[in-house]
Amino acid sequence: MQTETIPGGERREFLKQACTACLGGALGLVPALAGVAVYLDPLRRQADGGLLVRVTSLESLPADGTPVLFPIIATRTDAWNKAIAPVGAVYVRRAKADQVQVFNVTCPHAGCAVEYQAERSAYFCPCHNSLFSLEGKRSADSPSARDLDSLKHEIRTGGEVWVEFKNFETGKATKVAVS
Ligand code: FES
Repeated sequence: MQTETIPGGERREFLKQACTACLGGALGLVPALAGVAVYLDPLRRQADGGLLVRVTSLESLPADGTPVLFPIIATRTDAWNKAIAPVGAVYVRRAKADQVQVFNVTCPHAGCAVEYQAERSAYFCPCHNSLFSLEGKRSADSPSARDLDSLKHEIRTGGEVWVEFKNFETGKATKVAVS
């Protein structure tokens, strides 16, 4: 059997070139991984915080405080798709001349949608009979462990009502935002 020996000088040159190639490859991975992170970033941003949506105007809400139901339609964008779809709904009512109350329609008990019943001046959940006052307070015999989920909102110039829409985990006594 015949073995080939590489002279010392050539071996050193070979090792030097091999190390240079490895280092170059590793450095090349850094921008590549950063690129992947940027590519996936829309998914991460979508999961953070609420969705700020212009829902209505103050002047179009009934002055007597009757709640009005509004669907929340949002453009959902992730790394691969862009689609317009309903993501939930809110009840908005005028609490004072320049103030509103906003509630997520999802019942905090187990996730059914509550409905406003004018004859009771209350929100009712038909699934297990939870009842919430106009201010969102649950009645003593309601199975829901917490009041209706109020949502942050702001009234901007011209009376536009903007809502920070979020969904919350159901079946809990405290509000925990679904991310
Ligand atoms: S889901 Fe509303 S009372 Fe159970």
